[in-house]
Amino acid sequence: MELPPANLDEAVDELADHARLVREQAAVIAHYKKMYERSSALARIGVWECDLATEELTWTDGVYDLFELPRGSTIQRAHIVDLYFDESRREMERLRAQAIREAGSFSLDIHVRTAKGNERWIRLTADVEQEDGKAIRIFGTKQDITEEKWAQEKLQRLQTELIHVSRKSAMGVMATTLAHEINQPLAAISSYAAGARRALGSAAIDAETLDITLRAIERNAIRAGKIIRSLRAVTHESAAGHQAIDPNPLIREAGALAAARSQTIVIRYGLADGVRIVIDPVQFQQVVINLLQNAADAVRDRPDQEISVASTLLEASVEIRVEDNGDGIGEEMLDAVFDTFTSSKADGMGLGLPISRTIIEAHGGKISAENGAGGGACVCISLPVFRED
Ligand SMILES: Nc1ncnc2c1ncn2[C@@H]1O[C@H](COP(=O)(O)OP(=O)(O)O)[C@@H](O)[C@H]1O
Ligand SMILES: [Mg+2]
Repeated sequence: MELPPANLDEAVDELADHARLVREQAAVIAHYKKMYERSSALARIGVWECDLATEELTWTDGVYDLFELPRGSTIQRAHIVDLYFDESRREMERLRAQAIREAGSFSLDIHVRTAKGNERWIRLTADVEQEDGKAIRIFGTKQDITEEKWAQEKLQRLQTELIHVSRKSAMGVMATTLAHEINQPLAAISSYAAGARRALGSAAIDAETLDITLRAIERNAIRAGKIIRSLRAVTHESAAGHQAIDPNPLIREAGALAAARSQTIVIRYGLADGVRIVIDPVQFQQVVINLLQNAADAVRDRPDQEISVASTLLEASVEIRVEDNGDGIGEEMLDAVFDTFTSSKADGMGLGLPISRTIIEAHGGKISAENGAGGGACVCISLPVFRED
């Protein structure tokens, strides 16, 4: 069989053109795919899709990576939904059902445990696609926002630790202002006194001038005294929150708060009865909250998580000890735990203990930290007790 040579040549040329075009298009697609993969890996984002008739899931690599599942492996919706923490699962199912009903969309931050057991926060977006008025597919993105969530939590934590510092610093500003005012009469007193002494040395002073000078000194001393009294009134006023109180209910309340945050921690109390201390209750509780938070951090990875809060009434003071069965304070940290911004934790601010010390010392007490016989940390607060007489 013979084909006309001209046609064959044309056909071959055409085929070659086609092949080139396909190669070019494949290269363009590969290029875009690579760009997509790079940017989604950077943003730690992936795309997902679920066929509503078959519940069949399709994921891009980014989503597999988020859940730490092998890329391209077979995935079942029921199994994936099991990786959600209960509260996130409930909320997602509710919003998903609503979106399917109303052909709408939603976005939700979900808390999951990956296939490898790591906790993650994922921002989920979802949109429903319809065909002939019937929802057929739901699709969207999943993005890793774990670090963002951590930063948020860190901020919240810092806020709880800082609630009472602002009040303190307001007092600090007040004290600085008043100290500045006191300086004026004090400077006047010393210059009047120096002038009088010079005049006395040269015997060129009469009784009347001396009298005037002494009166000026007296006036300024009285003024300085008034300023000091007003300073006392300020500190006294802000000390209005100080009451003679039983610390035990405040301690138990702080403990209940710590226990509510974790179902696995056991808190034991050994609190002396009949103790009364003079302290701002909110600030005192803040200290206990900070110490319990550190203890809770220290026992986090243990199967048995124990914290004990015990107090002993001594002659003129009460000792309150917060102990845990964690790994204790690191050797290199022991001398520095009360320094500001010193932390051994990835998300630590290093403010809990310094703030606690500021509060305790402002109430005439002491705070110290050591490692107990059992290896865990033991933080001891000592505060003067209130006596009626
Ligand atoms: N109960 C504890 N067990 C072990 N280490 C502790 C304990 N309490 C405090 N520390 C150490 O003291 C450091 C400072 O504590 P803190 O001032 O509360 O800051 P943060 O908790 O933000 O790290 C901690 O990072 C930790 O190293
Ligand atoms: Mg702390």
